[in-house]
Amino acid sequence: MGTRHDNNVIVLEVVTAVVVALMLCTTAYGLGNFNTDFEPTFGGPRVRVSGPGGQQLALTLDRGSGSGFRSKREYLFGRIDMQMKFVSGNSAGTVTTLYLSSDQSTGRHDEIDFEFLGNVSGQPYTIHTNVFSQGQGNREQQFHLWFDPSLNFHTYSIVWNPKLIMFLVDETPLRIFRNYENKGITFFPKIQQQRIYASLWNADDWATQGGLVKTDWSKAPFTAYYRNVNINTARNGRWMTHDLDANSRRKLRWVQRNYMIYNYCTDWKRFSQAFPPECKHGFE
Ligand SMILES: *[C@@H]1O[C@H](CO)[C@@H](O)[C@H](O)[C@H]1NC(C)=O
Repeated sequence: MGTRHDNNVIVLEVVTAVVVALMLCTTAYGLGNFNTDFEPTFGGPRVRVSGPGGQQLALTLDRGSGSGFRSKREYLFGRIDMQMKFVSGNSAGTVTTLYLSSDQSTGRHDEIDFEFLGNVSGQPYTIHTNVFSQGQGNREQQFHLWFDPSLNFHTYSIVWNPKLIMFLVDETPLRIFRNYENKGITFFPKIQQQRIYASLWNADDWATQGGLVKTDWSKAPFTAYYRNVNINTARNGRWMTHDLDANSRRKLRWVQRNYMIYNYCTDWKRFSQAFPPECKHGFE
């Protein structure tokens, strides 16, 4: 009797373990662990993971090098939420990034970029966004923010589904880039898998006020923080059909009216011959 009872308990435990494991797999959602789900790409010792479950990561930049990391896995569509806090004080010349990219060695890579360009103390960061498809980019939009992103953590999100790419800050949409293939426009990343990348590096030849303001190395090392990364790839997730509702459309307009500082679709000088084809569909 005793051993049969024990066997039943063991069977029950195994079944429970299998069910829990299956649930974890199929939800494909949850907090990433910077120790196990990510790996350094450069500046190895300057990539420091901390916190229970590896939920926080700090990147530093000093005279020697910047630093960066990427996801071990590749994704085809998904929603990524990352809480970030940027270099504080005089961050001129520094660039902090969060982006998706497919294998760059092909020469035909796809990319979805968030880049945060530092500034001298008291002057605003610039958020630079871009989309690459099959090695082609030139789809920049830039913004200022309605808060100082070096004081607190804020959530920066990329929604990438078959219909659109959305860039969000604390759930406020900054930018939408749509797939117009039903209008014969093929510029949209939708076939190649991409990894999540992040980095902190020196770009004082162009980043701040057009390269006029250089990095003040007496303030080094510079540090940017990442935490609580959430990667949602569940095909039944809301991100798969995420689009603008009336409220988020209003927020997007508010950002465009008050905080957008560059839009490639209105750069007549640069595209004096012809604008990229999606520009004629205007924007939201
Ligand atoms: C830095 O501040 C200047 C002046 O406010 C502003 O024009 C610029 O967009 C800011 N950002 C960068 C990256 O230069």
